[in-house]
Amino acid sequence: MNAELIERAKAYVKEKFENEFSGHDYFHTLRVFNMATHIANKENASLETVQLAALLHDVDDRKISLKTYETQANARHFLLSNGVDDETIEHICQIIREISFGGNDEAPTTLEGKCVQDADRLDAIGAIGIARAFAYGGNHNRHMYHPDIKPNLNMTKEEYRKSESTTINHFYEKLFKLIALMNTDTAIQIAKEREAYMKQFVSEFMDEWDGNR
Ligand code: ADP
Ligand code: NI
Repeated sequence: MNAELIERAKAYVKEKFENEFSGHDYFHTLRVFNMATHIANKENASLETVQLAALLHDVDDRKISLKTYETQANARHFLLSNGVDDETIEHICQIIREISFGGNDEAPTTLEGKCVQDADRLDAIGAIGIARAFAYGGNHNRHMYHPDIKPNLNMTKEEYRKSESTTINHFYEKLFKLIALMNTDTAIQIAKEREAYMKQFVSEFMDEWDGNR
């Protein structure tokens, strides 16, 4: 286990995401790293692969790096220049491809990929998930809530990307669906608590909106 390599990867993503406010900032990556580490320990996954994949999971994201998202060139370059072996590099790049949003909802092939995907998804729910959703909504000129705009539960990927829905609808269109997509028992337990917290939040939001208290 190479602690220095992990530190170098952290420094690399910190610099890369310095000017990123799209919801994929350095602190998102750091939270995914911490959560993925926790899940990997519980699930007995290979720690180094999980930690490197977690740190690098967004450096080739299409929203950030349109030129490299198909080849994972940024992640590859970092790993190659830090002497990581070919097999591990291929595994990490496969994880990045499998968990990227452009992919489908199929579970990643390896346990390590499952840990990283769960950690990424857990960061979209709970208190942080609520804050990220409203930050995203503000950034994209969305209403917090609008009584005439109903959630659309069956959007295609294309419709989802173009959607002008509200942030409260996003809870129904995506966030409440995430618990069913968790791969590991460790993540399912955490997701249950976070989901209950979000449901309580939405219920309180609607009560206040409707003037019920
Ligand atoms: P990822 O690439 O990690 O799947 P996204 O770019 O879809 O994530 O989302 C990043 C963050 O922004 C998440 O917390 C997500 O819930 C939030 N977000 C994405 N789309 C919307 C939306 N339409 N309304 C509110 N929040 C959104
Ligand atoms: Ni992410």
